Amino acid sequence: MRRVLCLNGPNLDLLGRREPGVYGSLSLAELELRVRGWGVDLGLEVDCFQTNGERELIEAVHGSASHDGIIVNPGALTHTSFALRDAVAAVDIPVVEVHLSNVRQRDRWRRRSVLAGVAAATIFGRGAGGYRAALRHLVDRAACPFEPHRYGPHPDQVFDLRAASGSRGGVLIHGGFWLDEWGRDTTEPWAVDLCRRGLPTANLEYRRLGSGGGVVPTVADVVEGVRAASGVLPEAPPVVIGHSAGAHLALAAASQANLAGLVLVSGVYDPGAPGVDRTGAAAGRRFDPDGSTRLDQLVTPDCPVLLVHGAADRVVPPDQSQTAAEALGAAAELVVCPEVGHFDALDPASEVWQSVVEWLRRLD
Ligand code: DQA
Repeated sequence: MRRVLCLNGPNLDLLGRREPGVYGSLSLAELELRVRGWGVDLGLEVDCFQTNGERELIEAVHGSASHDGIIVNPGALTHTSFALRDAVAAVDIPVVEVHLSNVRQRDRWRRRSVLAGVAAATIFGRGAGGYRAALRHLVDRAACPFEPHRYGPHPDQVFDLRAASGSRGGVLIHGGFWLDEWGRDTTEPWAVDLCRRGLPTANLEYRRLGSGGGVVPTVADVVEGVRAASGVLPEAPPVVIGHSAGAHLALAAASQANLAGLVLVSGVYDPGAPGVDRTGAAAGRRFDPDGSTRLDQLVTPDCPVLLVHGAADRVVPPDQSQTAAEALGAAAELVVCPEVGHFDALDPASEVWQSVVEWLRRLD
């Protein structure tokens, strides 16, 4: 992956002035500057183009032969343009759909994307950062290809299987405070790193708040997803690795699975506790109003557990992992890494991830 085309459709030329409460305060020029900069960080050359015309957008997709991937925010054409869908389906390079706002939680008509099924991935509701995630996804999918596997009829009941030679697999469970704007692309850098180390992985998606999730369906999805992934990963019981709210879900689901180990990275177990990010606290109340997945309600899993947390985590304070490690007792090992923040832990170069890799090595 070297050259990427970044396309923005109708009305995105008005960014910064257009409904800033919804789309943010960056102008299009500022957004494009950032996107090019993120591209440089990832070793990509990014060409940007914006148009208000459906025809021009379609022609830009047709004219992408010298690019290796496209990220596109089609604006309202997302919801109407079958012609754009056909153009995306016609090109051989991956196309990632991006939206600044959470299109699933606005007007009803915005929930439908006619690109669904032909776009390689859809990232929404993360503001400008969604464009960076889209670039990262293009790099990751090129570095280590995967095969999507469904484990239920809902579009979010799916995992991406990355094959590798190792005899034990890993199931990755992403976080994001149980909210639907955060998806499995966040744990993809871990999947790629494990794939390079010879560990096959299933990177799990599940229903979240805003897309049919809530404590009962979400935990059921994680249990079923881990079971289904175990069926296609190598025969030995897998290791489950969760980040943030994904660590909480992994722990909630672990007692219903046969696991070789459980790795809980930057986990949040009591979102109402002091120091937890306000969005997380509010989402935690919506996710599990009765506290049925509080630490004291959970069964200690029957496998070794590693908890890792960055001491510089300002989203989920490290005392969340300390409390969980105490509750889990002898089976649990706790590592706190200085100077690592919440999202830094998702970078395979971080000290947090290095401790995970070292622990996995010792597990075998
Ligand atoms: C948008 C969402 C669309 O529904 C809307 O028509 C846009 C922008 C977004 O980035 O959130 O123009 O794609």
